Amino acid sequence: MNEELLPVDLHRLDPLLPDRFPQPRGPLLHAALPDGRRVSAACVVSRHPPGSIATLWSARWSCALFPLSGAATESAELRALVEVWRAELDRLSPPAQDSACEITWPSRDVDGTRVFLDHCLMPLTVLAVRTSDRTAPIPRASGTTVRRATPSDLDAAAEIALHETRYSALVGGTMLRPDHVELKRAGLRARLAAGAPVWLAERDGLPVGLAECSWSTVRSDDLESRLRPGTWGYVNCLSVLPTLRGGGVGSILMAAAHRHFTEGGASGTYLYYNPANPLSTVFWPTQGYRPLWTVWEVRPAAALR
Ligand SMILES: CC(C)(COP(=O)(O)OP(=O)(O)OC[C@H]1O[C@@H](n2cnc3c(N)ncnc32)[C@H](O)[C@@H]1OP(=O)(O)O)[C@@H](O)C(=O)NCCC(=O)NCCS
Repeated sequence: MNEELLPVDLHRLDPLLPDRFPQPRGPLLHAALPDGRRVSAACVVSRHPPGSIATLWSARWSCALFPLSGAATESAELRALVEVWRAELDRLSPPAQDSACEITWPSRDVDGTRVFLDHCLMPLTVLAVRTSDRTAPIPRASGTTVRRATPSDLDAAAEIALHETRYSALVGGTMLRPDHVELKRAGLRARLAAGAPVWLAERDGLPVGLAECSWSTVRSDDLESRLRPGTWGYVNCLSVLPTLRGGGVGSILMAAAHRHFTEGGASGTYLYYNPANPLSTVFWPTQGYRPLWTVWEVRPAAALR
């Protein structure tokens, strides 16, 4: 496999990228370039059964491409791989409904952006990072208090989280499955039971906002991580009740989360947001986050051009 790797300097592209592209195991696709070189990519099909948490953000049948080469330096390599991927889809015959093709690519490689747009892939999600040395605006005073949530807060936390789920289903890849309420509750229940860092914002004693986070450790031998080795804070869900948005609640929650992760020695924090979300695309950069990876996706899978 190694002889097919081409040199790529991910750090020159973006100093926060890990040393190498994630390399999961999967059948390889090969493409020949006009100059005789060959480039390869792993093609990984995932099937998510009903009731699995991944069905909240992923199609039930999903085909992901993981180029092994340093295609970030030459868009011709990437274009050749996407063309072979398109041909492979005919062989795989993806379901007509609830299927997707996806590729996750360094956000700053705009040569790649051109290739993906030409093939009808959409920049549905970005993985954004914030390093711990970043400063954020001092939250406005708003009569809001923030406290760590406990398992007994499950009902209130789940209700607020579901506002985010419904909002994200309008602006990104979130799918409102018939069991989305139970799935969301189960995820939150597990985080709260594990003592994960989850905060509730309250006004007049009533819950108005939620920051659902966790710790994440990336080992140096982790071949699948999209982050540099270290300890990271992960923001899974930030949600404020619709009538109170724009009033500083989200900023106060994130100030508590960032303080917690910085004091705990995190290298930084990361999260996913949708480029079509008009609130988070303003909010997260203000909080010091910027895109690292972009998840390009097309649904259904056969719509890949
Ligand atoms: C994103 C979200 C959590 C931010 O919380 P918030 O309490 O609205 O955020 P704040 O009031 O602290 O800051 C909002 C910023 O967004 C912008 N904003 C302006 N009007 C706004 C409005 N009506 N609603 C939301 N944001 C607004 C402003 O830039 C504001 O920054 P400013 O304080 O410098 O003016 C909240 O809007 C929300 O729940 N959105 C729906 C769910 C969602 O998108 N979650 C994030 C998914 S990644």
